[in-house]
Amino acid sequence: MKFGPNGHLPPVRIGVIGLGAWGKNLLREFSRGVHSTVPIACDALEEARAKARAQYPGLQVTSDAAQVLDADVDAIVVATPPASHFDLASAAIERGKDVFVEKPLVLDLGQGALLVDQAQRSKRILMVGHIMEYHPAVEWLKNYIGNGGLGKVYYLYATRVNLGKVRDIENAMWSFAPHDISMISYLLGEFPHRVAAVGQSYLRPGIEDVVFLTMWYNEKLMAHVHTSWLDPHKARSLTIVGQKQMAVFSDTDPAQRITIFDKGVDVTTDYNTYAEYLTLRTGEVHIPKVDNAEPLAIECQHFIDRVRDRQSPRSDGVDGLRVLRVLAAAQQSLQSGGTPVDVSFPDEEKTS
Ligand SMILES: NC(=O)c1ccc[n+]([C@@H]2O[C@H](COP(=O)([O-])OP(=O)(O)OC[C@H]3O[C@@H](n4cnc5c(N)ncnc54)[C@H](O)[C@@H]3O)[C@@H](O)[C@H]2O)c1
Repeated sequence: MKFGPNGHLPPVRIGVIGLGAWGKNLLREFSRGVHSTVPIACDALEEARAKARAQYPGLQVTSDAAQVLDADVDAIVVATPPASHFDLASAAIERGKDVFVEKPLVLDLGQGALLVDQAQRSKRILMVGHIMEYHPAVEWLKNYIGNGGLGKVYYLYATRVNLGKVRDIENAMWSFAPHDISMISYLLGEFPHRVAAVGQSYLRPGIEDVVFLTMWYNEKLMAHVHTSWLDPHKARSLTIVGQKQMAVFSDTDPAQRITIFDKGVDVTTDYNTYAEYLTLRTGEVHIPKVDNAEPLAIECQHFIDRVRDRQSPRSDGVDGLRVLRVLAAAQQSLQSGGTPVDVSFPDEEKTS
């Protein structure tokens, strides 16, 4: 980006591709951002275009993604179904644009690696919509864990289920688990080295509606993720069991997003009987005050800031690629009926 005549950076001009259930939210955020403007957007469906036209009278709305890619904009937001992410994001980078791609980055590991390489060589910002990495409650938990509040983390489990949109290419794990894999790995500061997944398809052959994913980290630490769009509950939660305390993050409960339980089992070194060796501790329950800022607004501002300062986003292409490696290994496990599969990361992805 170039400085304007008064020395200020002008707003980042953004083109949005895909105005469906999620893309319309991105259009809203980037349109109302102080440091961004959306002059052009597109969707293949007339219904989505008509809604955008009615809501944003100054917006150029088209059915042709090529018009957005070729427009005079600094960055492209890709909010189409994941099967089209690679072609659209790659075409955007080719035209010199920075790119925000919704999760999952792409559906194929090879394509993910190509995209990351292309962005790095072209010095373009590539950010993936791992929105949970921008959630104030996740930030709160990360600090709490980092300060030793929970003690050593033993294990975690996440639930992301509803009765909702059934996708026709990616299964429930590819659709939902990028949120949990990125959130848990961000919280822990590491990615799993082994995964296993089992699931089942009921509504469409070959596309699992429910998937149970297990991830193993170092030193006995493990995490479990339950994803489904065929479930009576609407739940987005994470439970973290630590040596000192336990935490529950419930994203669907704004009044009580985080609950800290001062519960645990203390191991006594000075004991006479085996019963005294382990002491149950059930202390107070604490509901901390957590910033109520909208994760989507924080995420979009982060992208704008990175486009302006040219630093790597928190959820950059490499982060997207790491999540993809976990998903690809989990898919392999799923297809083998749940056999654990190792996840390997090349050296350059281990350090950044
Ligand atoms: N961050 C989140 O919390 C979150 C939530 C939901 C969905 N998503 C992600 O957002 C993306 C979109 O999901 P959705 O739920 O909005 O899907 P959707 O099906 O509701 O919308 C996708 C839209 O893209 C349009 N489209 C498809 N190909 C196009 C093309 N080549 N050119 C122009 N328009 C095209 C379709 O017409 C449709 O309106 C997916 O990657 C999904 O995983 C993220």
